[in-house]
Amino acid sequence: MTRPLLSRRQFFCAATAATALGAANYSKADPVILEPKPSFEQFSFACDGRTAKIYSSAITEQINILQISDSHLYLEDDRDREFQEFSARMAKAYNHTKRFSDGKDTNPTEMFAEIAQNVKRQDYDALALTGDIVSFPSQLAVEFVKEKLESTETPYYYTCGNHDWHYEGLPGTEKELRDDWIEKRLKPLYPDGVDPLAYSRVVKGVNLLFIDDSTNEILPKQLDFLKKELAKELPTLVFLHIPLFAPERDLDYAIGHPDFNAEHDRYWESERRPRWSAEGHTSVTYEFRDAIINAPNTLGVFAGHVHGTSLDLINGTPSNVVRAAYDGSTLRIELRPFPKRPTPRDRVMNNVNAK
Ligand SMILES: [Fe+2]
Repeated sequence: MTRPLLSRRQFFCAATAATALGAANYSKADPVILEPKPSFEQFSFACDGRTAKIYSSAITEQINILQISDSHLYLEDDRDREFQEFSARMAKAYNHTKRFSDGKDTNPTEMFAEIAQNVKRQDYDALALTGDIVSFPSQLAVEFVKEKLESTETPYYYTCGNHDWHYEGLPGTEKELRDDWIEKRLKPLYPDGVDPLAYSRVVKGVNLLFIDDSTNEILPKQLDFLKKELAKELPTLVFLHIPLFAPERDLDYAIGHPDFNAEHDRYWESERRPRWSAEGHTSVTYEFRDAIINAPNTLGVFAGHVHGTSLDLINGTPSNVVRAAYDGSTLRIELRPFPKRPTPRDRVMNNVNAK
């Protein structure tokens, strides 16, 4: 599969001009996004559910990343006794699992330890943790995650899922509760000094973006961050918890889903959280999704939340979901230089060498 960047860009220019529709950032107002970049012209994406391989002419050396999502650790101890009425339901969820590789009975704690152990034997440049690593923000669970991640001696980058900060039934808006529990408990899992809601790291020339979409909505400051990062014109991967909407996908793929609204919110009572907005997504959230899928330098979007694997191509941008780590599943992401075609000189030299 080769990504038709030039025709895709030209299509957007033509469609925008012809219909006078579409957001301002895809019109002539944003020449950075409209201008195709020759270095991104050659691109392919191969995925078998366990490994995703991205080949791009914008990549100069191989980069290996391990994505870990939805381990749903439920450890807690007496230090958090006062919150146990808010953790009770999720403490019983996913606590007996079957190991993905052989079907043996196991649990999220054992699987997280095994994943960390395996990382030590591999060649990863970074670990990307895309949320629901814990089922609620207990001190014991966060300490366990931190200790295991440190033991890998590999740089790790974390963004929240909708459960990491959620003690079910605590009063407050999702935005307030997220800020509160990140500050109180989850902060040790982030690199020092970053904004937990949106930060980036450049690894071997590739820009990795970690953006917290765990409330199903995007804040204006996160959209601004995204636009600035994309405008750097580096090859970019976007890591989220909740996947982007793609046609045919259900409301787990909430970011930009047209049916996301209070009427379709099935779990607000069981999860004891505020119901989704009656009006649906904010325009910022729609614009966020559009900016990711229309940027020529987005080489892939990697999310969790759904617990099973899936892959969509949205405007030619791969949007991948990893299976939940509570059964030991992970996704190895390899970025590689696009294979060069042999030149006539190469062929002559090959013939000479073969003789
Ligand atoms: Fe989850």
